[in-house]
Amino acid sequence: MTQENPRPSVGLFLTFEGIDGSGKSTQCKRLAESLRAAGHDVVLTREPGGSPGAEEIRRMVLEGDPDKWSAETEILLFTAARRDHLERTILPALAAGKVVICDRFADSTRMYQGLSRGDLRATVDQLHDLMIGREPDLTLLIDMDPATGLSRAKGRQGSEERFEDFGIGLQEKMRAGFLSLAEEFSPRFRIVDGAQEIETVAADVLRQTQAVFGSRTEVADS
Ligand code: ADP
Ligand code: TYD
Repeated sequence: MTQENPRPSVGLFLTFEGIDGSGKSTQCKRLAESLRAAGHDVVLTREPGGSPGAEEIRRMVLEGDPDKWSAETEILLFTAARRDHLERTILPALAAGKVVICDRFADSTRMYQGLSRGDLRATVDQLHDLMIGREPDLTLLIDMDPATGLSRAKGRQGSEERFEDFGIGLQEKMRAGFLSLAEEFSPRFRIVDGAQEIETVAADVLRQTQAVFGSRTEVADS
């Protein structure tokens, strides 16, 4: 396991994780805005996706029948998307000294493909070590009640519903799984209460990020 990553000499790699509807996309944007306003060079990206090739895979994995892929096939597809995203978007930005903020990353595969249909965590980890081999410098876990998360997610219009269609049972399992992942990788995880107002969550996210990176994530009014 590549649990202890060396700090990159340049760039910062921040990820957001949590169940569907927990507010990750909202908070990624808020953090990116705060850091950009303070003059930091920020790349805001997401998974699955974040590069042209990975966005093509996103359409394949998120649309259509919930049973259209086996869990094993999904692990390969999500990892293929991640490899392309890493090569084309994340690593070049980090090498250029930028702050990369990514909406979901490998922890989502550890949870969704690793836990949702049997225990495939070891397979996820093996493929990760072989093809990705990189962990974020900091992961912000937005934790919240699964029923609220699901109703927020369902409130959005769209065709990317394969995982939301698995329902409340999956959301509960994912929430518990993310909390235990935060213990497993405790040096890089911070937990934020997602049930608060958007502004309050954003302030917590910024505070926790600055507590880890100090002046590297400084903003004017903090
Ligand atoms: P995720 O990316 O985790 O699925 P989103 O950021 O897309 O979540 O949020 C899902 C929905 O909930 C959106 O409509 C968003 O405006 C709303 N939302 C996000 N954060 C909050 C919050 N703290 N309180 C109430 N609604 C929120
Ligand atoms: P996302 O667009 O972040 O959905 P949401 O905004 O609802 O949280 O991700 C889409 C779905 O993809 C989400 O249900 C989780 C799933 N997913 C995986 O199953 N494995 C992965 O590795 C990733 C990155 C996402």
